[in-house]
Amino acid sequence: MPLRRISGGRELAIDLGTANTLVFLRGSGIVVFEPSVVAIDERTNAVHAVGEEARRMIGRTPATIRAIRPLRHGVIADFEVTAQMLRYFIRRVGGGRLSFSRVVLCVPSGITKVEREAVEEATMAAGARTVVLIEEPLAAAIGAGLPIAEPQGSMIVDIGGGTTEVAVLSLGEVVVWQSIRVGGYELDEAIVRHLDTVERLLVGPETAEAAKIACGSAWELPEHLETQVAGRDRLTGLLRRATITADDARTAIAQPVSAIVDAVMQTLETTPPELAADISTRGIVLAGGGALLRGLDRRLAAETHLAVHIADAPLEAVVTGAGATLEETAFTHPAPRRRSGRRRRRH
Ligand SMILES: Nc1ncnc2c1ncn2[C@@H]1O[C@H](COP(=O)(O)OP(=O)(O)OP(=O)(O)O)[C@@H](O)[C@H]1O
Ligand SMILES: [Mg+2]
Repeated sequence: MPLRRISGGRELAIDLGTANTLVFLRGSGIVVFEPSVVAIDERTNAVHAVGEEARRMIGRTPATIRAIRPLRHGVIADFEVTAQMLRYFIRRVGGGRLSFSRVVLCVPSGITKVEREAVEEATMAAGARTVVLIEEPLAAAIGAGLPIAEPQGSMIVDIGGGTTEVAVLSLGEVVVWQSIRVGGYELDEAIVRHLDTVERLLVGPETAEAAKIACGSAWELPEHLETQVAGRDRLTGLLRRATITADDARTAIAQPVSAIVDAVMQTLETTPPELAADISTRGIVLAGGGALLRGLDRRLAAETHLAVHIADAPLEAVVTGAGATLEETAFTHPAPRRRSGRRRRRH
């Protein structure tokens, strides 16, 4: 394939997520999978560290260094830092060379024009010659292996760090969707609040996230699980440890988990009947890191009365799907944005 020889290796797909950034290099697969964190030296404004190295610095930096997540709820909160992070990853993939002929960038469905222009600009500034945007639910569905090109309804639920996107797709397009600003971080924050209220213990969000991964669940578990968390006692000011059980964690995160379940229910309610019938046959597919929360599949199955499956590699589904479109130009021509009457705006 001559086209592949010319362009292979110089085309990227990027999932710029609130929690993680993944880069897919055409011909090689996933070459970057790092937390979306940048540590900046405040004296010089220079980038001190990016990705995993920067993540380890969150909450642990001296006054002169700031470790920040430049995205919030799936969109850029700090343009300059996002552009620097993208430049760092793109340069790493390019072996120091900056330019890539084409970059397919995954964006949330509910992104505004201003937000869209900001990510495009940041990607161009990082070395892309052309930027093509793909909606995350579409990319996730392709990555999860759903037959989205068919005249058949498929439902994908992508639960990320800062957003949950629920979408019904058919004939390669998003037909009905809903996006809520609730994701894994809201679960972490709920655990922080719970420990503060119940134990009078102040813990950082990274500690809460570790506790969620160790024993969080959305459904009663058959086994007993618990984990230790360390923080500062609100009353004495001293360092203290506490035990958090799976039951505690489930109570703590009940509210944001219900918000995710409600988003799925509401999307099902607005799905046209033929597509709803397809989904009732084929079930719902979960992607994103939040899909790994224990028992979320069972909880959703119990509430919707539908089969619920977790994508094979939920954290990688979006970038894998976007990467697959690099081979299929039909998906990646910059087409005018399509808005069907059934599509719903972000809440
Ligand atoms: N085993 C697990 N159990 C529960 N949650 C998990 C697990 N592993 C990862 N997560 C959560 O998944 C989230 C990250 O998922 P993901 O990488 O899909 O988000 P993102 O794509 O960066 O965010 P967004 O799509 O909202 O911009 C984090 O909140 C993380 O805590
Ligand atoms: Mg995501």
